[in-house]
Formats: sequence, C-alpha cells, structure tokens
Amino acid sequence: MLIPTAELHIHIEGTLEPEMLVQLARRNQVPLPTYDVEELRARYRFGDLQAFLDLYYANLQVLRTAEDFHDLAAAYLHRAASRGVRRAEIFFDPQAHVNHGVPLEAVIEGLTAGLAEPTDQPVSTDLILCFLRDLGPEAAGEMFRAALPFREHFIGIGLDSAEVGHPPAMFREVYAAAAAEGLHRVAHAGEEAGPDYVWEALDVLGVARVDHGIRAMEDAALVDRLRADRIPLTVCPLSNVSLRTVDTMADHVLPAMLDENLVVTINSDDPAYFGGYVDDNYAAVKAQLGLSDTHLRTLALNSFDACFAPEADRERWKSEVRATFAGLGPGSSLT
Ligand code: ADE
Ligand code: ZN
Repeated sequence: MLIPTAELHIHIEGTLEPEMLVQLARRNQVPLPTYDVEELRARYRFGDLQAFLDLYYANLQVLRTAEDFHDLAAAYLHRAASRGVRRAEIFFDPQAHVNHGVPLEAVIEGLTAGLAEPTDQPVSTDLILCFLRDLGPEAAGEMFRAALPFREHFIGIGLDSAEVGHPPAMFREVYAAAAAEGLHRVAHAGEEAGPDYVWEALDVLGVARVDHGIRAMEDAALVDRLRADRIPLTVCPLSNVSLRTVDTMADHVLPAMLDENLVVTINSDDPAYFGGYVDDNYAAVKAQLGLSDTHLRTLALNSFDACFAPEADRERWKSEVRATFAGLGPGSSLT
C-alpha cells in the first residue's frame, strides 16, 4: 500500500534518469562520455554536494527543446502518480538552461505542458523557480525579470546549488521583489552550511519553508524558532546519505526533528541520482531509522500542511492519509 504524500523538494532536472539522458543525447546529438546506462549509473557516487552538482549540470546539456522539457516533466508526473504523490511543488533551474542557449520560454512551456498530461491518479502540480546561488544576486535578479512575463506558470522562488560561501542574505533584493509579486519563497539552507544560513533564510529572505535545514538541529534557539513559527523543513534522507551530509542513515537527525515536534517532511531531492523516489525515502527511514507507522503518518500529514495548495485540497489529502493508516491491520505495513 502507498502513502499519499506531497513532494515539496524535488528538482525536475534531478529526475533525469540515465535512460532518458541517453535518449535525449541521441535526439539532440549531444556527446556523452558513455551511452551505456549501467556505466552512467555507476558514476552516481558523490563525495559531496559539489561533486554531485558537477555531474548534474553536465548532464543538463542534453535538454535543448520544449519537447525535451515536456518529456522530462511528463515522465516524473507519471512516476509520481504511481507512487502515491498527490501534490508536487517542483523546482526548476532556468539559469542552467538559458546559459546553455535554451530559450526560457521553451523551458517553462515544455515543463508546463508535461505536467498537464493526464494520469490515472491525479497529481496536483506547481513549479517553483530556483536561482543558482553560486551565480550571484545580479544574475538572480536578471533571471527574475526575464521570468516575470511567465509569472502565471510558477508559484514561488527558491535558492539552490553550491551553498557554502553563498549565504541567503546575498539574495535579499530578489526575494523582496518576489514577495512584492505575491510569490511564495523557499530556500535551501542548512544542507551543507550551518544554522546561520537558516536564520538568514528566515529573517532576511522571509522564507515560508526551509529546504533541507538538517543543520538547524545544531542550534537550540533556531529549533525553538522553527517550532514556534511552524516553519516546515523539506528533508531529503537518501540525498543526505548520498552527498555525505550525514555519514550513514543511522546518524540522520530526522528522528530528533520529529521528537522536537518540527514540521518535518520527507522528499527525494534528485531521485535519479540518489537512489530513490519519495516512497523509497519513506521506506528507507522506516527500515533504517526504525520509524513507526505513526511517525510515517505524521510525516505524510506534515507534507500536506506544508504545501502551498488550497486549504480544501490539503484537508482532502490529509483525510486520505488518515484513512490509509486507519485501514492498516496488525502486522500489515505500508512500505
Ligand atoms: N540542486 C539540485 N539538488 C540540489 C541540492 N541537494 N542542493 C543544492 N542544490 C541542488
Ligand atoms: Zn534540493
């Protein structure tokens, strides 16, 4: 049985599976170091965030046309539908594509069309435009202005890429401009960098959610703040293990976050690279952190509380979660 969930931390570019990488490379005549899918997958071992980002950006070169973005988004949508996702708030990195010469229009229209495809089980989706923090605040402002004509195609902004050395406060202007546009604001913080980045994301950027945020647990005053303001954290356990921000799953702070009554959620980040989609992340934390079904229920309910969908939808999905867990007999299991 599948857990109904909202996935709030998923980079559409991080769903580029090796099979599609090869298909798009051939379609667009983009050379790859190998066309062997297993060999490509074997390269998905990372020492840290930067090692992952190097491969992630290199692979993005195969995405050239609106059709490519359509196919990427549609493939994710169908996979999400089959794995219990009811709501997905999906990051995309337009600067990476525009810097490869792809028109912004092709990126946004392709993704939007792919996400509009019908699925057996409906998935509510919206896009969140992310700025690459290592390209700096001027480039972020330029991208924001270029994206404004497509305003109706995204609901919010985010901040991703290499974290350390690129603190949230650098982006105060573009976040203020996004707030004035009525856009939701989120940011990666506390993935590799410390709690100070999470404070800045909250106090300077005014984010409604923190992406990752695991290092917030090092600062008791910050934990108090996150709990008091019910700021959701979009935690990505398989990503954290894969990028070695934690040594092993057994060392993950997720149980401590639940004990602290934080609004913590489970997400996949870049599932093609980190060994699993959102349901695989639930299964991993259950198996390797010993979380109970009650914990999993809380995590799923949190995901709908934390999402930006209308209240009526959130309540409907939460009822579905409650019914799913109520239907569990003794000895049966969800994952
Ligand atoms: N871009 C894609 N995945 C990311 C991650 N985990 N951290 C920062 N930037 C990213
Ligand atoms: Zn991420």
